[in-house]
Amino acid sequence: MLSGKTVLVGITGGIAAYKICELIRMYKRANAQVLVVCTPNALNFVTKLTLQNLSKNNVAVDEFEVKDFNPEHISYADRADIMVIAPATANTISKIASGVCDNLLTSIACAFTKPIIIAPAMNCNMWENPVIQENLNKLHCEILEPESGYLACGYEGKGRLCSLDKIFDKTVEILKYKPLNGKKIVITSGGTIEDIDPVRYISNYSSGKMGLALADTAKNFGADVTLITTKDVSRTYNVIKVKSALDMKSTVEKEFDNADCIIMAAAVADYRVKEISSRKMKKTEDDEITLTLVKNPDILKDLCGRKKNSKPLIIGFCAESENLIENAKEKISKKGCDYLIANDISRTDIGFGSDYNEVTILDKNGGMKKLERADKKTIARKIFEEIYG
Ligand code: PMT
Repeated sequence: MLSGKTVLVGITGGIAAYKICELIRMYKRANAQVLVVCTPNALNFVTKLTLQNLSKNNVAVDEFEVKDFNPEHISYADRADIMVIAPATANTISKIASGVCDNLLTSIACAFTKPIIIAPAMNCNMWENPVIQENLNKLHCEILEPESGYLACGYEGKGRLCSLDKIFDKTVEILKYKPLNGKKIVITSGGTIEDIDPVRYISNYSSGKMGLALADTAKNFGADVTLITTKDVSRTYNVIKVKSALDMKSTVEKEFDNADCIIMAAAVADYRVKEISSRKMKKTEDDEITLTLVKNPDILKDLCGRKKNSKPLIIGFCAESENLIENAKEKISKKGCDYLIANDISRTDIGFGSDYNEVTILDKNGGMKKLERADKKTIARKIFEEIYG
C-alpha cells in the first residue's frame, strides 16, 4: 500500500512509545521505507536496538552526530514523504508550536514542508490544559486526538494514544489520496477590516479558521495553495495578508488567471467608510455622530462575471442567520458561482469563531448536499471530496 513512500516516525518520551514498535511494523508490512527519529526521553521507554531492527534503518537521536556532509535535520525532512509524531507529548507539541528546535525531532518538524500527523498522548489534565490546546491549534498538522480511558498515570480520562489503525489509515489516506494534485487553489479567509480613522475600524467576528482549514486540507491533497487572509498565518504554502475588501479584491484578481479554483471563505464587509479620517476622530459635545458608508465591490460576483470558460471553479460561502437554504439558493443565482457553501451563523456551536461547522453545499444546477456538524478540518476535507472526489 505504501510502496515507494518514506514515512518518518518521530517518537517522544511518553509511555505509549512502546506501541510505536507495532506501528513501524505496520508501515513495513505496507512496504514503506521507515525512518525513525527519537527524542532523548523516548529512549527511556523503548530501545534504539528494537526500533532499528523493526525499521531496518538507523535510529536518529543526536542532532550533531555527523554521518555525511548533509545537516541531519534537513536531510531527514527532504527524504520523507510524511512525518508521523506518535506519541507526541505536551512538551514536544508546545516546542513545535513555538518553533523551538532543541533536539533533532523538533528541528526536523520545523524544517518539514510535507504533511505531518501528530498523535498526542498524555495525562488527561495536561490534555485539557488551555495552553496545550492553544499550542495544538497553532499547528498546521493533522492532529489525531487521544482517546478516553484508563491512563498509565492512574487517571481515567482523555489522553490515551489513538489506535494504531487510525494513525496508519490516516497516513495512507494522506499519502495516497491526492485529488488536488497539480491544481492551483486560491482561498480567502478572515474578516476584512475597514478603517474609520488610525485607531478604529469596522470588521466582523470571522476568525479565519474555516478558510485556514480549507487551505491546509488543499495542501495535504496535493494542491498548490495561495491563502489570502486578514489574519496572521504562517504556513509553508503561499500566504498573502490583506486588510480591507478593496485589498482583498485586487489580490484575488491577480491570482485569477492562474487559478484552477477560487474559494471565497472570507467574511467581506459589504460597506466601507466613505472618507477615512487621517487623524483620530475627536469626541464632540454631540450625542450622535454619523459615519457615511459606501458599498464595497462584491468580489465573488465580479470574479464570476469575469469567468469565460470552465476555469477557475468558483466557490462562495453564504453566511445566514435565518432561512439558510432559501437565501443560499437566491445567493448562488445572484452571484453566479459554481458552488455555494451555506452555514448558519446564528448558531454559537458552529460558524464564526468556532472550531466546528455544519454546511450545505449547493451547486449551480440545483443540487444540494448537507455535511453534518464536524470540526472545520473534517468539513474542509468533505467539501473537497464532494467537489473533486
Ligand atoms: O472565519 P471563521 O470564524 O472560521 O468563520 C467562517 C465563516 C462563517 C466566516 C465562513 O464559513 C463564511 O460563511 N464565510 C462567508 C461570509 C460571508 O461574507 O458571507 P456572505 O453571505 O455575506 O457573502 C457571500 C459570499 O460573497 C462569500 O463567499 C463572501 O466571501 C462573498 N462576498 C461578500 C461580500 C462582498 N462584498 N464580496 C464578496 O466577495
